[in-house]
Amino acid sequence: MPPARRRTATARFPAAALPQVLLSAELPDVAVLAVPIVPTGSDTDSDTDSAAGSDTGGARLAGPVPSQLDLDGLLEREQAKGKPGEIVAVPVTAPGVLERVLLIGTGDSSPVDLRKAGAALARRAKDAKSLAVDLRQATPDAAGLRALVEGLVLASYSFSRKAEPKSRTLQSITLVGPVDLQDELDAALTVVAATAAARDLVNTPSLEKTPDWLAGAARDLLKDLSVRVLDEKQLTSQGFGGIVGVGQGSTRPPRLIEASYDGGPSSRGKVHVVLVGKGITFDTGGLSLKSTPNMLDMKMDMGGAAAVLAVLRAVADLKLKIKVTVLAAAAENMPSGTAQRPGDVLTQYGGRTVEVLNTDAEGRLVLADAIAYADQDLNADVIVDIATLTGGMPVALGKRHAGLFCSDDALAAQLEAAAETSGEPLWRMPLVEDYRVALDSPIADLRNIGQPKLKLMGGSITAALFLREFTGGRPWAHLDIAGPAMAGGDEDEKTKGGTGYGVRLLTAWLVELSAAGASRRLSRSA
Ligand code: BES
Ligand code: MN
Ligand code: ZN
Repeated sequence: MPPARRRTATARFPAAALPQVLLSAELPDVAVLAVPIVPTGSDTDSDTDSAAGSDTGGARLAGPVPSQLDLDGLLEREQAKGKPGEIVAVPVTAPGVLERVLLIGTGDSSPVDLRKAGAALARRAKDAKSLAVDLRQATPDAAGLRALVEGLVLASYSFSRKAEPKSRTLQSITLVGPVDLQDELDAALTVVAATAAARDLVNTPSLEKTPDWLAGAARDLLKDLSVRVLDEKQLTSQGFGGIVGVGQGSTRPPRLIEASYDGGPSSRGKVHVVLVGKGITFDTGGLSLKSTPNMLDMKMDMGGAAAVLAVLRAVADLKLKIKVTVLAAAAENMPSGTAQRPGDVLTQYGGRTVEVLNTDAEGRLVLADAIAYADQDLNADVIVDIATLTGGMPVALGKRHAGLFCSDDALAAQLEAAAETSGEPLWRMPLVEDYRVALDSPIADLRNIGQPKLKLMGGSITAALFLREFTGGRPWAHLDIAGPAMAGGDEDEKTKGGTGYGVRLLTAWLVELSAAGASRRLSRSA
């Protein structure tokens, strides 16, 4: 095997080790060799439209294969199209080390198509020990390499609590050709490892995953950074009435986790980003109890907290030149004799009162405390919260897109650009001013669900408007990830269960902020 620099995808925190990814100039001895195929008529060196979408064209090899076989004939007989993720297996009649050759469709070689191709390839090769992808004839650019690696490694992720878990078979993936992209590869591996960590947190069953467990996991994940945890006594005495109110029905008390990264002297005067994550470790609905089917996946109701903690891991590993604080508001929403009741009035951090009319609208209560704290105590230049907030969001947008609610068009544009590069899609939603009246309460400053008598509907919008009340007018974005936080099955780079949605997106955004040298003032105007 030719020399290759060994890099593992920071295997220390994902529960199941991820395959390592290497770059090499030469073909190593591997069990499975993958060679890209592209649609006929497509020219990988130009931007001209390819035949990827048409069903009439065929496919051709993107490069020569070390074989005497008539592969062009094979592609024709198999009616290969070169579509992203399409695989044509070439029989290896006398297997030695090399057991299989897979021709892998890469479509138009865009990041989107390469991410799909990588995922399909990793799934097909999952029972082989080693895989090489021959990129010598169709060398991707930096964005393409990143997407390919995301597909290959994230589709290889697994989570198991079986008594005898199978150990991973696919241990190494060699990308043959683009050795000049080592730094890009390292950055990609940092982000996929962080994504895997977020998936682990989401997939962990709530029997184990209490708010205090989440705080411990944050300390482990971020052990080189400053992590501060407020317990239920401190939360009570310091006025975090939302987190306390939601958590008071559980025997497992709430926590506010605060972790921060400061990119050294060069980050002085640089933008201070505060990321806030919803960390409901299980959402029964409380006394406004959910039905059995609606409660089923509610261990994932801390997907926002998982994402922000993992983003901070990636930001620190990438040594970005910005200041980032993350807040994970953790509580378990349970019904019991100590639970908050519909009709109770609680006092949020900073003093505003809220009439709790539905204890299942708990996410906004814990987030409001954290957002108010970011505004009043952390002097945030920009606040982004991420939360599995409303069941209406996947009804509107499906399981792929998160809803983006944003007070600032420039910030929204930055996040939309990051969604594009990261492959984690967003769709902007309106903050409808006329719906604000639905949150008026006769006895408190706000009510926690829209007044049903007004028949305004738009529950995801009123939830966002509720959060906006606590931002103090600072630039703010809210990502409602109730749809994409969890996947019902394997699809492209996603695996069944927690997806880690938001880690790639928010990291991509922060990479851009760091590269742009965003200053405190710049982030406010631009
Ligand atoms: N965690 C849920 C939202 C959710 C639902 C996430 C489905 C993922 C999948 C949230 O706490 C909730 O219960 N929201 C309620 C609010 C309602 C009572 C105003 C909802 O959206 O139904
Ligand atoms: Mn709820
Ligand atoms: Zn919830």
